[in-house]
Amino acid sequence: MILVTGGAGFIGSNFVLDWLACRDEPVVNLDLLTYAGNLGNLVSLRGDSRHVFVQGDVCDAALVRRLLVEYRPRAVVHLAAETHVDRSIQDAAAFVRTNVTGTYVLLEAVRDYWQALGATEREAFRFHHVSTDEVYGSLGPEDAPFTEHHPYQPNSPYSASKAASDHLVRAWHHTYGLPVVTTNCSNNYGPYHFPEKLIPLAIVNALAGKPLPVYGDGLNVRDWLYVKDHCAALRLVLERGRVGQTYNIGGWNEKTNLEIVRTICRLLDELRPDAAGPHERLITFVADRPGHDRRYAIDASKVERELGWRPAETFETGIRKTVQWYLDHPEWVAQVQSGAYRQWIATQYGRVGPA
Ligand code: NAD
Ligand code: DAU
Repeated sequence: MILVTGGAGFIGSNFVLDWLACRDEPVVNLDLLTYAGNLGNLVSLRGDSRHVFVQGDVCDAALVRRLLVEYRPRAVVHLAAETHVDRSIQDAAAFVRTNVTGTYVLLEAVRDYWQALGATEREAFRFHHVSTDEVYGSLGPEDAPFTEHHPYQPNSPYSASKAASDHLVRAWHHTYGLPVVTTNCSNNYGPYHFPEKLIPLAIVNALAGKPLPVYGDGLNVRDWLYVKDHCAALRLVLERGRVGQTYNIGGWNEKTNLEIVRTICRLLDELRPDAAGPHERLITFVADRPGHDRRYAIDASKVERELGWRPAETFETGIRKTVQWYLDHPEWVAQVQSGAYRQWIATQYGRVGPA
C-alpha cells in the first residue's frame, strides 16, 4: 500500500485514479479537504476497498504517525500543499504552515517509521516529494530551460515555501539517509483543475460569457503538461527513480498566456459556439501579478534518458480533451463554484482592476 497526501486535489485525484487504474496496490489518501480538495473528484472510487480516504492535516503529527503504523505503506507520495500563487501573495500564512511545516512533520514521522522497518522494507521504502519548476525562479527569453542543477531562486511566497520544502526533503536524505526522490514539474492542466488557475478559469468564464482576465501584457511564458502525463512520470520515478535524485518533468511546450487563452477561445468557438460572437471578445487585460515570473521552461531530458518517460499528449490533443471534459461536466463546475469560490473571484479580480 502507498500513502498519498493531497489526493483530493487536482493532481492528487488524477494520480489516485490513474494509480488504481494501472496498479492493484491500495492507497491511503490523507487530505484536509481545503477549498481545493474535492471528494467529488473521486466518486468513481466509491465502494472500492483499495481506496481509503482520511480527512486530516499533514501538520497533525499524531495522525500521520498513526496512519503510518496502521497502514504500513511502502511509499509516501507527498502532494498536499497550498498551490495558488495569487493566494500566496494575498496571505502566505497557510503556505508556510502546510508547505513548510507540513512537510517537516511528515518527514519526521516518516523517518521514525522508516527507521523501525526491517532491512528489506527499509531498502525498498520511498518518500516521493512532488514539487514545482517555480523554485528555479524566472528565465529570460533566450535562457536555456531549467535543468536539475539550476540554482534555486524562488520569487513568490508560494515558490519560496515549496523551495523550503524541497530543501527539507534533501536534508532528510543527506543527514538521515531517508530514501527520497523529488520531482519538479511545470504547469499541469486537465480534468478536475480548480477554476482559480488560468486554464480552467478561462474555460468556465468563457462558457459563462464573463471576462477572461489576462495579467499584464499576456506574454508571460509557461511550460504546460497534461496532468495524466505528469501522473505517469510520478509512477515511473517512484518505481525506478534513483534515491536522493531530483527529476524535472515538463511538456517541452512553452506558450504565452495569451496563446493559451486564444486557443481555448478557438476550441470553444468550434465546440460550443456563442451567438454573441467569438469568445476572444471576452479577453480582458488586467493589472499584472506582483513579482510575476516572466518565463518557465523545463529541460526534461534526465527523466526521459534515465526512465524512458515521454508525454503522451501534445498540447493540441491535451487542451482539446480538457475543454471537452469541462463541457461534459457542468455539474462538477457548478459544485466547485461555491460561495467561497465566488468570494475569491470577487476579491482577486476586484482588487487587480483593469490594466
Ligand atoms: P491543489 O491545490 O489542487 O490540491 C492540493 C490538495 O492538498 C487539496 O486536496 C487540499 O485539500 C490538500 N491540502 C492542502 N493543505 C493540506 C494539509 N494541511 N493537509 C492535508 N491536505 C492538504 O494542488 P495541485 O495543483 O494538485 O498540486 C499538487 C502538488 O503538485 C503540490 O505540491 C504542488 O506544489 C505540486 N505541483 C503542482 C503543479 C500544477 O500545475 N498544479 C505543477 C507542479 C507541481
Ligand atoms: O509551474 C508550476 C506551477 O504552475 C505550480 O507549481 C502552481 O501550483 C500552479 O498554480 C501553477 O502556477 P502559475 O502561477 O503558473 O499558474 P496560474 O494558472 O495561476 O497562472 C498561469 C499564468 O497565467 C501565470 O503567468 C499568471 C497568468 N494568469 C493567471 C490567472 C489566474 C493570468 O494571466 N490571469 C489569471 O486570471
